[in-house]
Amino acid sequence: MALDWQASQGRALRGDVRVPGDKSISHRAVMLAAIADGTSRISGFLEGEDTRATAAILQRLGVRIEAPSAGERIVHGVGLRGLRGSDDALDCGNAGTGMRLLCGLLAGQGFDSVLVGDASLSRRPMARVIDPLARMGASIEAVEGGFPPLRIHAKNKLQAIDFRSPVASAQVKSAVLLAGLYAEGTTRVRETQPTRDYTESMLAAFGWPIRHVPGEASLEGGHRLHATDIVVPGDFSSAAFLLVAASIVPGSDLLLRGVGINPRRTGLLAALRAMGADIREESPRRLGGEPAADLRVRSARLSGITLPAMLAPDMIDEFPALFVAAAFAEGATVVSGAAELRVKESDRIAGMSAGLRAMGVRVDETPDGATIHGLGADGRLRAAEVDSLGDHRLAMAFAVAAQCADGEVRIADCANVATSFPGFTRLANEIGMGLRDG
Ligand code: S3P
Repeated sequence: MALDWQASQGRALRGDVRVPGDKSISHRAVMLAAIADGTSRISGFLEGEDTRATAAILQRLGVRIEAPSAGERIVHGVGLRGLRGSDDALDCGNAGTGMRLLCGLLAGQGFDSVLVGDASLSRRPMARVIDPLARMGASIEAVEGGFPPLRIHAKNKLQAIDFRSPVASAQVKSAVLLAGLYAEGTTRVRETQPTRDYTESMLAAFGWPIRHVPGEASLEGGHRLHATDIVVPGDFSSAAFLLVAASIVPGSDLLLRGVGINPRRTGLLAALRAMGADIREESPRRLGGEPAADLRVRSARLSGITLPAMLAPDMIDEFPALFVAAAFAEGATVVSGAAELRVKESDRIAGMSAGLRAMGVRVDETPDGATIHGLGADGRLRAAEVDSLGDHRLAMAFAVAAQCADGEVRIADCANVATSFPGFTRLANEIGMGLRDG
């Protein structure tokens, strides 16, 4: 269903709010709880379309999941070998994480599965998971070129591999580790650059022996997962839009409570601080075993930076937000080493460049990044029509940018914001942003 937004300047952003639960952790929590022995309770579960799609798939595979209230799930685990095949295709919706991790989880089952997704997911590369899983003995067919739908054939036994991942991708790493639960021997994944480690730490929380240090993880097949309760912290990637919004809108002072600050996720904090942002971590604590804090952000005058390429994996979902911060920085911001952005929910380099240009920002695109020529803290964007390309993060980034525009910015195709940030429009209005459907 088409949904467009009209975004325009609101007031200084103020409030004391929570962002929805972490998407990556929610996917993993429901998957591991499903194949654990016993009953797990998940609180703070993201009520987004992506994570609900994963839960619905697990229900189709025979797992009983109760939802006593919003953000709560009680998962009656069926054990490692307790899933049952489904005759229907399993619909992952817009979720790359859902599809790639399920591919690993389903590769070693005694039944066939078909994984499908929406138009965007159907264009995303799956060879990156199919190839290592095939080396483990899995049999997965894709559409020519390695695209969904994926047909996973029954395989009762997989072989462990020692895998050096050519892409810095937590999804690829996780798919191989999940298949490794069903493999004979020690499965090892080595990464070119460390990526988010939620699969590793959550496997440990469910009692599976696993060795992991940044950039390397290994585990053996033949153990069992034991039910546990998981508390999901707020999603840093959702908080990112509000951090940038409050940084660029003069007079803002915003408190975001209980946000996950795993170092593999907070590259944007480092980048924004290097640009001069005023963001403090208050009441640091652990939520569900993960580092979390309340983030207090006040507006600040930003300066352009050359982003160190090694920061890219730690902020891989935050580039749309960074591009907006860069648009209001003094001088140029140079992004490189981020070619992966071209194969996300949309081509995020092309999509952000086109949208910012339409609003009056000079952006020079490169194959793996861009140079954004900032307008400075007093800069104003012009009214424009921009296209989110159906990408939730582009839609939210443009809505933030429009807070410093003269006139209305019309943003096309925003329905997918519900995949990761249900209630964004309401929360945005509550803190003072100008944003409505239309
Ligand atoms: C995710 C990993 C990242 C990220 C995605 C979620 C995960 O993808 O972009 O939104 O939960 O593992 P890649 O691993 O493909 O970089």
